[in-house]
Amino acid sequence: MNKIDRPYVCPAELAGTLDNFFRRIIHKPRKILKPYISSGMTVLDLGCGPGYFTAELARLVGEDGTVIAADLQQKMLEKMAGRIRGAGLEQRVEAHICPADRIGISTKIDFVLAFWMVHEVTDKQKMFEELKSLLNPGGRILIVEPKIHVTGKSFNKMIDILEVAGLQIIERPEVSISRAVLVQIRNS
Ligand SMILES: C[S@@+](CC[C@H](N)C(=O)[O-])C[C@H]1O[C@@H](n2cnc3c(N)ncnc32)[C@H](O)[C@@H]1O
Repeated sequence: MNKIDRPYVCPAELAGTLDNFFRRIIHKPRKILKPYISSGMTVLDLGCGPGYFTAELARLVGEDGTVIAADLQQKMLEKMAGRIRGAGLEQRVEAHICPADRIGISTKIDFVLAFWMVHEVTDKQKMFEELKSLLNPGGRILIVEPKIHVTGKSFNKMIDILEVAGLQIIERPEVSISRAVLVQIRNS
């Protein structure tokens, strides 16, 4: 694929496939996220989609924390906002619509969740460089990709790209039906 082609982006009409009975069995948001989040953190839920993880992130950062829920698609953000409202967590969550070619925030971030979204990004190196510039000291990024769409070879290629961008792997968490890495800024 060259840079002009866009990878497939999961449309808002398929949001239901990201939040259903099967997923709630295999992906327990609290279990996946708790090791990385503490109260008061500023967290970026990048490619939040309909907000499957956003509510739990908001609970984990507590009253003094903030979750920036960011997505390319306004309709996904609307679905996310509906879920958050239902849980009474709207004070802690800021919705952000990403421009097509960048994330477009300036807030410094302690933790980024990029769950099943990196394979949908056209210019991954640019995105990783932008993420690196947003991280607070000690900040970390959890990248999780779906095995069904991302082969081991493609995942390794993505790792090469994030390393070129100045990030390094610090952990390889086990996540059901997925390939995952936890990364931070490379120690020089
Ligand atoms: C497969 S969904 C995953 C949603 C959610 N993270 C989850 O695990 O349920 C991928 C989401 O990433 C969003 N996305 C794709 N490319 C993006 C980009 N460059 N910036 C922001 N969001 C993006 C899509 O609009 C879609 O909502």
